[in-house]
Amino acid sequence: MSHAIELKDLRKDFRLSMRLGRRRALDGLSLSVRAGEIFGFLGPNGAGKTTSIKILVSLLRQDAGSATIFGAEPARGETRQKIGYLPESPTFYDQLTGREFLAFCGRLCGLRGTELRKRSDRLLEQVGLSHAAELQIRRYSKGMNQRVGIAQALLHDPQLVILDEPMSGLDPIGRAEVRDLILDLKRRGKTVFFSTHIIPDVEMICDRVGLINRGRMVAEGTVTELLDAGEARSIEVVVENVSGAFDSVLASEVSSVGAQKLYLVPSNEALGRFVSEVLQRRGKLVSVNPRREGLENLVVRLLEQDRAAA
Ligand SMILES: Nc1ncnc2c1ncn2[C@@H]1O[C@H](COP(=O)(O)OP(=O)(O)OP(=O)(O)O)[C@@H](O)[C@H]1O
Ligand SMILES: [Mg+2]
Repeated sequence: MSHAIELKDLRKDFRLSMRLGRRRALDGLSLSVRAGEIFGFLGPNGAGKTTSIKILVSLLRQDAGSATIFGAEPARGETRQKIGYLPESPTFYDQLTGREFLAFCGRLCGLRGTELRKRSDRLLEQVGLSHAAELQIRRYSKGMNQRVGIAQALLHDPQLVILDEPMSGLDPIGRAEVRDLILDLKRRGKTVFFSTHIIPDVEMICDRVGLINRGRMVAEGTVTELLDAGEARSIEVVVENVSGAFDSVLASEVSSVGAQKLYLVPSNEALGRFVSEVLQRRGKLVSVNPRREGLENLVVRLLEQDRAAA
């Protein structure tokens, strides 16, 4: 299995001041991102997401542990060329127009002439900024600033795209556009690693998810794996016209409206037997819906558990 990103037992301490001493931002963080996948990096404010990302793009150096990108040191020249990076709350040379800024970034990574022009135009269009290409960045709104930052990260067509909260400040349409852009990168074989607080975005597009808290991983896996490992799922069953006094030991009645009754069945195994009971009593099955714990709930619950354990 080839890994685009591998972090092993990362530790990072920040020195605050003589009086306050040090703060541990990363405390044995390990995670891996496979080549070609979209990985969502979740965690509360101050959990250590930006710190991890800065180590990956070699803006920071860890105190212990290792970080590799496609098997190599992040600081190596060839590795850096493979990465596109959107910083958290990016600020740019704001006297430049969007187009000038992209031209500047493109020249830094060796793009020239029509190739550069073509790529900038395409990206400006993809991030919905064609209309503002000739406007100085200091006149951009927050979301427009974020969009030009995303364009900048993709300009040299990097293998690995690392985005620190790409959806922050974007309106719903902008968010959907960025999701499409990320999915398009995956279709083209790229790897995308992004941090976010927007859980529905993660559920919609991520192959795998990592949840970080207090500088260590709390959970990692596909959305389905995480949800399966979560609370036992129950199943909601609505039945109609069950004859006689029906009081199944297999399920609990939650509510009843007219001839319809809603039952909660605790497991798939009990479901089969419950359904036969209903049919034996000439009942009609109206609906069967697995009641899944959403990712949002799961994340909150895992973080509460982690806090309680601390
Ligand atoms: N330069 C710094 N000096 C001192 N402490 C820092 C520094 N950068 C980060 N920290 C601390 O490290 C911890 C992790 O911060 P980090 O920015 O990585 O969190 P985050 O997960 O990105 O949070 P957010 O969701 O708010 O962006 C926090 O406790 C923060 O105070
Ligand atoms: Mg951050």
